Amino acid sequence: MIDITTFDFEEHGDERGVLISLEENRNIPFTIRRCYYMYNTQPGVERGFHAHKKLEQVLICVRGKCSIRLKDGEDERVVPLDRPNKGLYIYPGLWREMFDFSEDACLMVLASELYDESDYIRSWEDYLAFLKQGEAEN
Ligand code: TYD
Repeated sequence: MIDITTFDFEEHGDERGVLISLEENRNIPFTIRRCYYMYNTQPGVERGFHAHKKLEQVLICVRGKCSIRLKDGEDERVVPLDRPNKGLYIYPGLWREMFDFSEDACLMVLASELYDESDYIRSWEDYLAFLKQGEAEN
């Protein structure tokens, strides 16, 4: 079963506008070691299509909107990210696909580790094998 955890970040708003603060181990449930973001995503593009062995992430669409498709080998859930105060937590071992980017979308990702290609599972076949291995160990 896919466990969906989303956050509604506190908005500090006044007549000037809105400010959101993200803090490790406070409103972000891990130590933030990396932040990256994607923008100018071309029409119809889908990204991601991988899982991570250990990495934890929080995804925030800070401008525009996009959708995140999560898979765990059995279930599939789609989570729209359509406001800058919404965060989606992705725990280790969950497959993700990002799609339906609006033209102005800026998708920011906070991550618990530095970039490490060896933490990626980039094919669906390898992902199913990874899940099977986890079952065998438990
Ligand atoms: P990629 O993994 O293809 O993005 P996604 O699968 O999420 O759509 O990453 C695109 C490129 O950026 C690839 O060459 C790896 C590089 N990259 C970094 O150098 N550092 C990072 O933190 C990330 C996420 C990617």
